[in-house]
Amino acid sequence: MDLKGRDFLKLLDFTPEEIKYMLDLAADLKAKKKKGILTPWHRGKNVALIFEKTSTRTRCAFEVAAHDLGMGTTYLDPSGSQIGKKESIADTARVLGGMFEGIEYRGFGQEIVDELAKYAPVPVWNGLTNEFHPTQMLADLLTIKEHFGRLEGVKLTYMGDARYNMGNSLMVACAKMGMHFAACTSGKYFPEKRLVEECKKIAEQTGGSILLTEDVKEGTKDADVVYTDVWVSMGEPDEVWTERIRDLSPYQVNGAAMANAKADAVFMHCLPAFHDLKTKIGKEMGEKFGITEMEVTDEVFESKASIVFEEAENRMHTIKAVMAATLGVPEE
Ligand code: CP
Ligand code: NVA
Repeated sequence: MDLKGRDFLKLLDFTPEEIKYMLDLAADLKAKKKKGILTPWHRGKNVALIFEKTSTRTRCAFEVAAHDLGMGTTYLDPSGSQIGKKESIADTARVLGGMFEGIEYRGFGQEIVDELAKYAPVPVWNGLTNEFHPTQMLADLLTIKEHFGRLEGVKLTYMGDARYNMGNSLMVACAKMGMHFAACTSGKYFPEKRLVEECKKIAEQTGGSILLTEDVKEGTKDADVVYTDVWVSMGEPDEVWTERIRDLSPYQVNGAAMANAKADAVFMHCLPAFHDLKTKIGKEMGEKFGITEMEVTDEVFESKASIVFEEAENRMHTIKAVMAATLGVPEE
């Protein structure tokens, strides 16, 4: 398997074997890190980290992973560069391509990261767009594999806003890996029809399946993984909060939803999560709408079934694997 020189823009661009290869590489890098075995495979190289939206996990994962691989990092924050305002993506790609061996991009439309990849002479990694969050997918798949010992046949139910980056990406990831994906939400929030059709075709080949349902009982039945994400994503206007809370409250991951899933089901969330009032926005919305939690109850978030922090740690190991694979893995 050789992914050297490839971009990592969305999981649809990769075969199940290539995804499995990156997951195995991530598991190997994780085991090495735990044993204290250093992997400075790319000493002397540098990567640029462009963040047009804020981040905790993705930024830290890229920085730590790059340092572990022996590389230097330059962080470009949402306001501190010329990108988009004074300089086009095509020009930025060629400027950064002359200084760095790889470029991470987090921002808005998928077409922006596609354009960056088209013009950059080095690998480009998608750190989240409105449409997809592929590095999150590798972390989620690794976490599920570690927990259940397999991916094939695992049922993942996604509750909430399924027509954005997380819903889209999880549907693709499940289809690719022969898993059963259920989007359990109001019909307004189902993923786009064209993507659903594409994923159904992939699932036919891999033994997976895709279900879209508004019925919580049907959606969560036999689920191994119950997954959710924030109801309002970065970049969306504040005005949508009222509608989202109204539309998506029936799809909150709570004790009843978990009780309807398999007895050993786990709870996952890409984070950050609104499960209490300990954040600025959580408190503000809580007071405004008279609620204390949103997409997931604090009880579920803090329960033994919740594997969100294992999932968060795996962002680093999997992002390291993506960079290592696309920059080249040395022969052992
Ligand atoms: N899950 C995730 O992408 O987290 P950050 O926004 O903190 O990077
Ligand atoms: N859907 C969320 C994911 C955050 C990791 C967002 O785009 O804000």
